[in-house]
Amino acid sequence: MVRRYVAEGARVVAVDVSARVSELADELGEAVIPVVTDVRSWEGNVAAATAAVEQWGRIDVFVGNAGITDGARPLEQIPGGQLTAAFDELMGINVLAPMLGVRACLEQLIATRGTVILTGSYASTNAGGGGALYTASKHAVHGLIRQLAYELAPDVRVNGVAPGVAPTRLRGTAALGQEAGDSVLEGTERALPLQEVAGVEAYNGVFTLLASAEAGAMTGSLVTVDSGLSIRGIARPGGRV
Ligand SMILES: NC(=O)c1ccc[n+]([C@@H]2O[C@H](COP(=O)([O-])OP(=O)(O)OC[C@H]3O[C@@H](n4cnc5c(N)ncnc54)[C@H](O)[C@@H]3O)[C@@H](O)[C@H]2O)c1
Repeated sequence: MVRRYVAEGARVVAVDVSARVSELADELGEAVIPVVTDVRSWEGNVAAATAAVEQWGRIDVFVGNAGITDGARPLEQIPGGQLTAAFDELMGINVLAPMLGVRACLEQLIATRGTVILTGSYASTNAGGGGALYTASKHAVHGLIRQLAYELAPDVRVNGVAPGVAPTRLRGTAALGQEAGDSVLEGTERALPLQEVAGVEAYNGVFTLLASAEAGAMTGSLVTVDSGLSIRGIARPGGRV
């Protein structure tokens, strides 16, 4: 997404807890400022916003994309004594962090009549795309998109993207002892109406659209990009499969 935004002429402050985010600046040069921080940190979000303003004088777009999974762990399989720490960790990254990020950029976004894009999920509107923690968090992201779209209108548009299955290795919830794992399970493509797991590039066009004036009439929308997962059939995933 950062590469695509830069190709479109944007300059990007790229924020990640992984130091590997700096490789983007090595690759893309002055168009990218890497900031290594935990997105749950208010100070980290302020540092990222400040870097954009000091270097380029404005913020037009805030994308809240960092996230972790619960590995689709059912509530029944989470020991009660681990639940609060797991909730705090996952909700902190998936829900609190985008709020902190928007808050840190808010004055600038209002000044530029900018736009916010948050990454939801199939799990924002469906069960079975994660466990109780992940599904609750992504439903919360959907609520956040709609509420912020209301609160910030008419000055800032707020939308989201809801991927289905993307070939990444999402981090798990440390409080549950989970490592990163493949998001794509064996045989997933056969369950999808479009019969293939799209590459991560499949999302770039929608993120670009939502950031652009072409989406000037869109706010409060969660755009589904899920290879048809949410319209799959019972007997067959797609009518012509
Ligand atoms: N992969 C999928 O199938 C899928 C499906 C639906 C939604 N999503 C959502 O897409 C978004 C991106 O995930 P992805 O699949 O590209 O996985 P990813 O792990 O490649 O990307 C997530 C990034 O967030 C970063 N991150 C995690 N915790 C952080 C923290 N505390 N502070 C700062 N950065 C942190 C990770 O280092 C990583 O670079 C997430 O919000 C995820 O929930 C993914």
